[in-house]
Amino acid sequence: MNTSGRSQTGQKVSVILVLLMLGSGAPVTLADEPSRGPADLENLVVQDCGSCHGLTLKGGLGPPLRPENLTHLPEAAITAIISEGVPGTAMPPWKPLLAPADIEWISHQLKAGALVLP
Ligand code: HEC
Repeated sequence: MNTSGRSQTGQKVSVILVLLMLGSGAPVTLADEPSRGPADLENLVVQDCGSCHGLTLKGGLGPPLRPENLTHLPEAAITAIISEGVPGTAMPPWKPLLAPADIEWISHQLKAGALVLP
């Protein structure tokens, strides 16, 4: 009885360790594959970017991010802005949180207007 109880606890601990390792290691280091699925990224844009740029991306604390507002910025410039932020403004750098491929995906969707809510 005692021994089986102990080994179950041991199993639980190792499952938690594996989950922690997966959770902390994956996103920042894998450069080429988006680390999150499209639904997850879309949600992030609406929730996190939307908290400053407006839930419908029509602007708020930050400027609007609809395709008609981004004609002055090539996709690569948008990628750079999202990665590095805009120093001296509220726009934070996202590269500590998002893989490069995630940021490229978001830039492409912003230019395409694919994440814009009605
Ligand atoms: C804490 C507030 C805040 C959050 C969160 C935020 N931004 Fe910004 N963002 C700003 C501000 C303020 C500016 C304007 C900076 C300036 O004055 O040039 C900006 C500028 C930008 C620009 C340049 C727009 C232009 O016309 O020059 C882009 C693109 C952008 N943000 C994308 C994003 C994306 C994508 C996210 C989410 C991953 C995001 N931002 C999250 C505040 C924020």
